[in-house]
Formats: sequence, C-alpha cells, structure tokens
Amino acid sequence: MSLPKRYLITSALPYANGLKHVGHLAGAYIPADIYARYLRAQKRDVVFVCGSDEHGTAIPIQATKEGTTPRAIIDKYHAAMKQDFEDLSMSFDIYHRTSEPIHHETAQEFFTYLNDRGELEIKETEQYFDEEANSFLADRYIKGTCPNCGSDRAFGDQCETCGRTLSPDELINPVSTLSGKAPIKKKTSHWYLPLGKHEAFLREWILEQHKDDWRPTVIGQCKSWIEGGLQSRAVTRDLDWGIKVPVAGADGKMLYVWFDAPIGYVSATKQWAIDNNKDWKPYWYDKDTKLVHFIGKDNIVFHCIIFPIMLKLHGNILPENVPANEFLNLEGDKMSTSRNWKLDMRDYINDFVKKENGGGQCVDMLRYYLTQIAPETKDSEFMWKGFQDAVNSELVSKFGNFVNRTWVLMHKLCGGKVPRLHEELLDENDRTLFTDIKDAKTKIENLLEEYKFREALFEVIELSRKGNQYMQKKEPWIVAKKLAENPESQKSIDNTLHICLQLTANLAILANPFLPNTARKMLHLMKVVEKMLDWDNAGKINLLSVGYTLREPQLLFRQIDDEEIKTQIEKLKSGLLKMEEPKKEEVKPEVPAKAVIQFDDFAKIELKTGTILTAEKVEKADKLLKLSVDLGNEVRTIVSGIALHYQPEEIVGRQVTVVTNLAPRKMRGIESNGMIVMAEDKAGKLHFISPAQPIDPGSTVS
Ligand code: MF3
Ligand code: ZN
Repeated sequence: MSLPKRYLITSALPYANGLKHVGHLAGAYIPADIYARYLRAQKRDVVFVCGSDEHGTAIPIQATKEGTTPRAIIDKYHAAMKQDFEDLSMSFDIYHRTSEPIHHETAQEFFTYLNDRGELEIKETEQYFDEEANSFLADRYIKGTCPNCGSDRAFGDQCETCGRTLSPDELINPVSTLSGKAPIKKKTSHWYLPLGKHEAFLREWILEQHKDDWRPTVIGQCKSWIEGGLQSRAVTRDLDWGIKVPVAGADGKMLYVWFDAPIGYVSATKQWAIDNNKDWKPYWYDKDTKLVHFIGKDNIVFHCIIFPIMLKLHGNILPENVPANEFLNLEGDKMSTSRNWKLDMRDYINDFVKKENGGGQCVDMLRYYLTQIAPETKDSEFMWKGFQDAVNSELVSKFGNFVNRTWVLMHKLCGGKVPRLHEELLDENDRTLFTDIKDAKTKIENLLEEYKFREALFEVIELSRKGNQYMQKKEPWIVAKKLAENPESQKSIDNTLHICLQLTANLAILANPFLPNTARKMLHLMKVVEKMLDWDNAGKINLLSVGYTLREPQLLFRQIDDEEIKTQIEKLKSGLLKMEEPKKEEVKPEVPAKAVIQFDDFAKIELKTGTILTAEKVEKADKLLKLSVDLGNEVRTIVSGIALHYQPEEIVGRQVTVVTNLAPRKMRGIESNGMIVMAEDKAGKLHFISPAQPIDPGSTVS
C-alpha cells in the first residue's frame, strides 16, 4: 500500500456556547492530537485543523441565558476554548472560527455551487411558529417528549437523554421555549439537500468500500440511516444568527449550522494556508490526501452522510475514515452540562495543571487516563479512582519508575555517563529486550494507523514494564557489590545500563504522541534535541552515544494521593464545580503529644538519606517489606512495615529517610538494620520523607 501524499486531520468544531468537558476531550480531540503528532514524527505532510462552531441556535440561546449578545458569547467562549486546548497541549495547526469572513464566503460559495447545479430543492412546508414571539422556531427552541425514550426534555433536533437525532415533528406535545406556549404551524420555504438521491453512492462508499476499515459502531449507525430511508434535509433556517443564504430575496434565511460548520474545516485550511504561505487546494481536491475526521458519536450522520454528499457534489475528496468515539460517563452517570455533572477541561486545568510548577506532567496524566479509557468501541467511564490508579500504578510505578531507576543507577554505577556496550557479553535477556523494543515500535505503529489508541498506549507502558523486569533480572546493584572481587563484572553493569538508557530513548519516541510533555522532559534528562523524537529512530538501540554525560535524575510523574481524588469527588457530588476554593479547615495549634526533650537527646539519633535499591514482600507477613537501602558507603537490609501502602516495584529508586543507629532487630527471621521514617496522613496512609531533589545517598539529616 502506498502512503498518502498528505493528511488533513480534523477535530469536531466545538460550539462556542460554553466550556467543554473531558468527555469532549476524550472523544474528538486527544485521539486526533495523538494521530497528528504521530504523523508529524513520521515526517508526513499533515495539517490538523479545528476551531469554534459559532452559529446555530445554541449561541443565541446561551446569550439569552447570560443576558448578553450572541457576539459577546462567541468571543468569550472562543477565547476560553482556545486557551483550554492550548493548556492541554493540543497541537492544532490552526484553531479557527466560523464567524470569520473567510468562512462565511467559503460556506456561501458551497451553497451557491450546489444550488446553481440543481443539487438543492426548494420546498414549502409548515413549520412551528411562536405567535407570541412572532418567530419561526428553530429546532432547539422546541421542547417536548422524546418518541424514542419518553424523556420530556427532548429538543426538536435531538434528545439529550437517549442521544437520538429528532425532527420537531417527531416530538410529542411540543412547546415553544420562547413563550412556553404550544406553537402553531405556518408556511415557509427552504432549501433542501435530497439525501435519497445519493443512496447508491452511500451504500457503495460506506457499506462496501469501508465496511472493514471503519469502526463497527460507525458502520452500524450509517447502515441504520441508509436503511431507515434517507429523507431530504433542510439546509436553511428562519433565524437571525448565522450565515446569510446567498440568494436574492432570501431575507431572514440563514444556512443551517450543520451545513456551514463542517465547511469550517475547509475555511480553516484556507486560513492556515494563508498564514503559512501554502496552497490549501491539494488538501481538499487531491485524491492523494487522506482526510480523517475525529468526532463523537452524536456527529456521525453529519460527517459520514451529509457532509460527504456535499463534498462529492462540490468536487472535493471524501474522508478516508471517521473514527468516532462513543460517550464518556463520569462516576457512574452521564456527563451533563445542565445537571452540572461533568468535569470541564478548565476545572482540571485549574485544579491540577495550574497548581504545578510546569504543569506538563498533569496534562500528560489526564491525556494518559483519557486515552486509556477512550470510548473507542463502547461507552466508558471516567472514575477519579481510576485516574489515580492509572497514574500511580502505571505512569509512576511502571514508566516513571523504570526511567528513574535507570537514571539513579546510571549515576551511581556508571558515573553519570552512557556506559559502553560490550557486545561479546550480550546474553539472552539483552537480546530479548532488543527484540521487544523493535516489536513495540511495529505494534504501536500498526495500532495507530488503525486508530486503536488505547491499545497503542498499552504497548508503550508494556514496554516500560519489560524494562523493569529486565532490570530486576539483571540486578546491577547486586552485581556491584561483588565488584571488588570481580572487577570484570563492571562490564555486565555497563551493558545493563547501556541497554536501559537506549530503551529510555525509545520510550520517549513511542510515548511522544500520547505524552508530549513527558517526552520532552525525557529529552531534557538525556540532553538530546527534539530531532531524536523522529519516529524513524524508534527501534534503534544506538540513540545515546557512549560516554555522553546525562542529567541528574528527576521524577517524571508525581503520585496522585487519596485526598486529591476525594476532593474532586466531593466537588462533583456537591455540584460545587463552579465555586471557588474549597474552604480551608481551621488551623489548630499543634500540641506536642510527647514529652519535651533536650537537643542532646535528639542528637543521639542518626538520620540519613538512603535510596531503596530493592524491595520484596516478606513471606507470611502481609505488612512487611524487605528492603535493601543504599546509604552511600554501605547497603543495609531494612524490614519496614509499609507493605499495605506500597507495592515493592513502585518504591525502588525512591529516596527515603533512615534511622541508621537503631539497634538491629530480627523480624520474621530477617535482621533489620535501621528504620525508614514515615509520615502518616489523616487517612492513615504512610508517606516517605524524601528530599525534594534527589541527593547523594548517605547524606546526613539533622
Ligand atoms: N458543534 C458541533 C458539536 O459540538 C460539532 C460540529 S463539527 C463540524 O456537536 F463538523 F460541523 F464542524
Ligand atoms: Zn430520548
């Protein structure tokens, strides 16, 4: 299969009527961003467009709610959404808006082109009219009972309870939202796009050509539309906010928002081309362009049926794929703006990203979790506990831990430089890992090409897990103990760390589309330039040169603690999402619980910083872990009662505070030589007391 010459990636244009939540982010934005970043790393020609959808009745409705003008609403929410996307590392080549003149012209040209060629029909129909407000009622201004699920809060265009697309005539007991009265029917004429004329084309193009490469959920929806009988769809409306119908005498008529909005992809491309001195036409006319629309499932009919018909009639290319996602629920319930049951991107940004110094790690944590639970094949669930688990037991304990161990040991055992590879000493484990690296690249690449982002991300973490396993098998810290007797064994240590470093470089490349901030932090640790992230470099095991000095260890991710997620769940449940800071608890002066001691008493205790080198469970003692702790000039065995709080693999590499002059004590037959100092929080969870920056093990604490 030959490669397309260029790619045009689109994310659904969000309505500029309010902030968007993480369900939107997971559905149409993060997957598109992963795909675009991957293609750029492949050095493909790619343009990734998005922008605000600023027409439709959603805008004047919001203006009424906020007591302002539609213009003020779009300006406010366009700016807010643009900022939120930036804060979450979305890499659009352009974030445009449909209120721009270039878009109005482009949409009108489309309409005229179709109308001049007789592809639209004019029909006179009876539409709902509110006599009191003296106005035709847009679909959104009519409420009633859903014929599908019986909800009494369905709108004339869609039922938000069951998701079904509706027409106002299908509503049972319709009521005008302007006056609250039952509307009357009044004659009006509009332009229609006769979908039925294109049934043969749709059947062939979707149900034959794409039956195997489009997602089954997408094919399923298309099929039911096609088989349900394709009705003509009005592409104009009686409205006073939108793009004017470019026909003399069509006063008061606007293009239907779903006619103009997808054309926004075209106008955004035009604006991008102007800004970058490029030609936009090949992106929409050349058959060698691969067009991919990323959307949520409520947009399928527009992107798979209506817009493609418009594109075909207008002489443009058709989308190659429309990887629509299902919906994301939140803590067991549908996300909903009206019930305030949602997590806005802005809330996450304020509570996590903005609270950190360089919030990149928090951005990547959210991107990670949303990709891990992406509703690719069915609806899925955002759970704060799930978020915490994903971060703590995958990003921190697998990925972050591998990189950190590598860095700590490379500094300790190889002088902070990339050690040599002694080829003659390569063993089975080394070779297996090389193969794993190459295989991971191929797997991830194939999965990304098939829009299987969840699985692709899983393979990235899986590779880091293999790294940890490799390290555990090689135990360079144990080998190091015998260096005095057997200086040759430095070679084995060198090999292990050389390979772990090359694996780290590979992990940066493979993680980059998903976790762009983390990949850059890794570049910093490795002291290499952005160029290293070229996808072609993945699978290579000579990315870091021997003898090159690397930076000090730095943790890639922090843990998410119980308190944080508790706060979020409480915030959600109490509907406090929009309120300020949670109120602070009164600070009570601390009363010392123990008797006062003299300095000399304190000075008797010797405290040092140690680095945990290994950790394992103690048999038949579910609270105990057996640790080996590096104290600079010696490695001690310490038995610590923290097994209920930490998994052995997640604490290797951690720096901790150790009481080093405590009399030895036997526990379960193991002699413990020292004690790890822990802090206990309100929930009873134990936390290490670690230096804020990694420091030499054996440093005195006083
Ligand atoms: N604004 C629409 C929504 O939020 C999506 C428009 S996508 C486009 O559901 F293709 F029309 F731009
Ligand atoms: Zn319904």
